[in-house]
Amino acid sequence: MILPVIMAGGSGTRLWPLSRGNYPKQFLSLNGDLTMLQQTVERLKGIEHKRVMLICNEEHRFIAAEQLRQLGIQHGGIFLEPVGRNTAPAIALAAFKAIESNDDAMLLVLAADHIIKNTAAFQQSVVAAQLLAEQGKLVTFGIVGDKPETGYGYIKRGTAILNSQAFVVERFVEKPDVTTAKEYMASGEYYWNSGMFMFRASRYLEELKVHRPDIYDACKKAIAVQNTDMDFIRVDKAAFEACPDESIDYAVMEKTRDAVVIPMDAGWSDVGGFAALWEVSEQDENGNAFKGNVKAIDTHNTLVFGDNQLVATVGVSDLVIVNTKDAVLVAHKDKAQEVKQIVNQLKAEK
Ligand code: GDD
Ligand code: MG
Repeated sequence: MILPVIMAGGSGTRLWPLSRGNYPKQFLSLNGDLTMLQQTVERLKGIEHKRVMLICNEEHRFIAAEQLRQLGIQHGGIFLEPVGRNTAPAIALAAFKAIESNDDAMLLVLAADHIIKNTAAFQQSVVAAQLLAEQGKLVTFGIVGDKPETGYGYIKRGTAILNSQAFVVERFVEKPDVTTAKEYMASGEYYWNSGMFMFRASRYLEELKVHRPDIYDACKKAIAVQNTDMDFIRVDKAAFEACPDESIDYAVMEKTRDAVVIPMDAGWSDVGGFAALWEVSEQDENGNAFKGNVKAIDTHNTLVFGDNQLVATVGVSDLVIVNTKDAVLVAHKDKAQEVKQIVNQLKAEK
């Protein structure tokens, strides 16, 4: 059966000042009432699955636990990482845990910070993915891209399989440079990697052991010492800290020969910045997306995230305005990605 594994250890720095180190993107409500994490869990309703497993940083344990509690679901535990070591180790912990309970489950690895507008289309892709994962494949979900984004993995499709619902992955390239990304887009043969995966727990571990035995060994060592406290599962701190920092994309997906891709047209966005958030938000007739207390005159294509305090705009367009208790961001929508530099400066000044 499917075991959903939700990765929620990212920092979401491109959405500062909404997203903060101690309260990152996946725990925020960016579109609607539910948080990104809660939407990720809710999206599974209707798919037969085991209890959800969550993996996040120790620092965010109470936020994560509270958000799951609010949904009123029974979950399968919250893994706490003492430090972030990226997604390859995080998934390895979940895989080892599944195997440990004599359950070589089909892991459905999900990012906690994506928006997917069409749940039915997402679920259809998951059903198809399960068939392939049962055959030992490492399944990715491919998005038809529309620009040469360098923040994504690129998947070249090969032979069609499963009545053309899926393709063999001919090549997987994580975060290419812009020239390469442009070539890939022009070829029409590449999908963006959505960052969601499905495979049997044992298959992931086999591949990890072949391609990154160092990560495999470190995680095996870390999980050998477990400490369960209420819903929280902690692993050996020193062993996990000694684990190399690497994403599943570089560690396994670029290297395995057993990957397949299922194209998914489900209104997916990873909300990688404010421009993306504006795009997926509900907009008024002037293209504005407002949250909070906002008064606007002659304002166009602008995103405002207010708190209680009134935000007023006059005669502006293509702006991002974010008003929080202790910081205000005003940026041009096309440049809003660069807020990451502000975050870096703030970190350096600390
Ligand atoms: N538990 C845990 N621990 N989760 C983590 C960690 C970690 O150390 N690091 C990241 N995550 C979570 C994030 O919260 C997010 O939900 C997911 O794992 C992916 O991590 P990102 O850091 O957001 O990855 P990315 O966006 O740079 O790249 C990935 O996603 C792209 C699509 O959004 C890759 O898979 C790309 O290939 C893909 O195109
Ligand atoms: Mg991401």
